[in-house]
Amino acid sequence: MQNIQTYLRMKQERKKIVMITAYDYPAAKFVQEAGADMILVGDSLGMVVLGYTDTIKVTLADIIHHTRAARRGAGDTFIVADMPYLSYHLDLISTKRNAARLLVEGGANAVKLEGGKESRLEAIRAIRDIEIPVVAHLGLTPQSINSLGGYRVQGTTDRSYREILAQALAIQDAGAFLLVLEGIPEKLGKEITEKLDIPTIGIGAGRFTDGQVLVYHDLLGLADIRPKFVKVYGNLHERITENLQSFIMDVRSGSFPAQENVYYPIENEGNK
Ligand code: KIV
Repeated sequence: MQNIQTYLRMKQERKKIVMITAYDYPAAKFVQEAGADMILVGDSLGMVVLGYTDTIKVTLADIIHHTRAARRGAGDTFIVADMPYLSYHLDLISTKRNAARLLVEGGANAVKLEGGKESRLEAIRAIRDIEIPVVAHLGLTPQSINSLGGYRVQGTTDRSYREILAQALAIQDAGAFLLVLEGIPEKLGKEITEKLDIPTIGIGAGRFTDGQVLVYHDLLGLADIRPKFVKVYGNLHERITENLQSFIMDVRSGSFPAQENVYYPIENEGNK
């Protein structure tokens, strides 16, 4: 069973950490059987499972529901559950309660929240204070797309490069045990990784972070959008469509169900 020390040790030993998202029982089972180091029940589920155009509409109830399902498939694999938009923005009491619900009701081992400004550092400290491990997330933070002006690479100007670097250091001081870096130049991903003692997990943050995370649906070819940072390892969209079409054709042609799929088949009756 992994714990927060596992990942610190992996960084020290220069072993890459692999995180994959999963939002339900079968996906978590696949990810666990494949041997990933940790599972993320990300709010990306809003886009790849619930069909929203962004992650903003995802609720705490959604994340709890999906984390419970993932927990049942994940065995003892470490699960990080995303804190959705507005679940850590209002006050520290509701922030702590919401984080605790992800562990107590969902079965997560840690929670993740986005951003690095002072109010987020307070949230990290508050959650840490009730013994819940916290993962932070910097760079392209999807819950902020309305203020970022879209899904754009961050840290491309001198000012935002320095700001993200400073926030990464402050996040470590606030007590996060892991930092996800999304959509930033490779140089910034490398510099943060070298400057921090806690591990970094990149998604579109270059080759030098301590680990990588990809969205399950993206890497298996199940998503509609294919960002530059995704490597697609399978084409499940095509395979699933072909398999469904075969079933439809078999029913329409009468070749399914065949005699072997039938209880007490009537002898000498062909398919109708
Ligand atoms: O929600 C999510 O899947 C994430 C990853 C992209 C890191 O936050």
